Amino acid sequence: MDDSFAPGIGHRLDAWANRDLNVGAIVALSPDLSKVANLLGVSQDVVRQVLHSWGPGRFDAELFMDGKAFRPDGKSASTLIPPAFGLAGVNLRTYTGWGSVTYWNAFVATLEMHGKGTFFDPRLDDANQFPVAARAGFSNVRSDPDLITPKLADLHLYQLAIPAPRPPAGSFDHDAADRGKDLFNGQARCATCHVPPLFTEPGWNMHTPQEIGIDGFQADRAPDHRYRTTPLEGLFTHAKGGFYHDGRFPTLGDVVDHYDGFFALHLSDQQKRDLVEYLKSL
Ligand code: HEC
Repeated sequence: MDDSFAPGIGHRLDAWANRDLNVGAIVALSPDLSKVANLLGVSQDVVRQVLHSWGPGRFDAELFMDGKAFRPDGKSASTLIPPAFGLAGVNLRTYTGWGSVTYWNAFVATLEMHGKGTFFDPRLDDANQFPVAARAGFSNVRSDPDLITPKLADLHLYQLAIPAPRPPAGSFDHDAADRGKDLFNGQARCATCHVPPLFTEPGWNMHTPQEIGIDGFQADRAPDHRYRTTPLEGLFTHAKGGFYHDGRFPTLGDVVDHYDGFFALHLSDQQKRDLVEYLKSL
């Protein structure tokens, strides 16, 4: 990738959301998917179909908990891969909460990648919400030897130390962004949830689907049935694939239009453009 996309961090794009990598297509190449098929109680062909339905930059961590591959409208139940930078000070790590950075590292290493680790979360015993996880005993996994737990502390510190990258010079209009900042903190009320400089709430940073005006499908696949307020720094790195957990809003302008309608903000077109320039500056 062109250096200009990563000022100050050279060629490394540590923790950027990979929106090109097609994880599902890669996993589907595996000659033997019988473990996954048995876990989900379906054929390997069905597993491959589901993996191919994700597309680039997407993953479905909850599939292995609840066995749901598609939303009621038939679209993939997968979500966009989120960035892993800029999480110091942020309480919950994923779009739908679940836990902190280290919670999610243990979850992914043990329950998703099936490394040899320890994982404990009795919320996964709820057989109505998480039939696959409850059947498989994911709420209490023990391994001998445990190769994951000794690595969690270093991984946690390392990950929290990765700051969000700054947008490249010239990638946004400074004057418009200044005006957008005032709107963000004032008239448009964005900062009530996206509290600067974290751009999420200190505390329990979760909201019901009704509070942000969207459906609850993905929220209901997580223990708290809510969406987490996304920290907004480094938005410019992951415009590809869209915004919100499932990419339902192709551009930042579409996100602003959604809030303008849902909260009846009555922003003018100029104000909406200013707000978008501010978002691009974060
Ligand atoms: C009631 C709390 C709340 C308010 C007010 C709010 N947001 Fe959000 N915001 C959220 C939540 C929760 C999400 C996560 C939604 C999802 O992923 O489905 C989110 C997601 C976003 C995203 C998508 C980030 C990404 O990486 O996908 C953007 C951009 C955003 N908000 C900007 C704004 C702007 C601009 C305003 C003001 C007009 C605003 N928000 C007002 C709670 C709020």
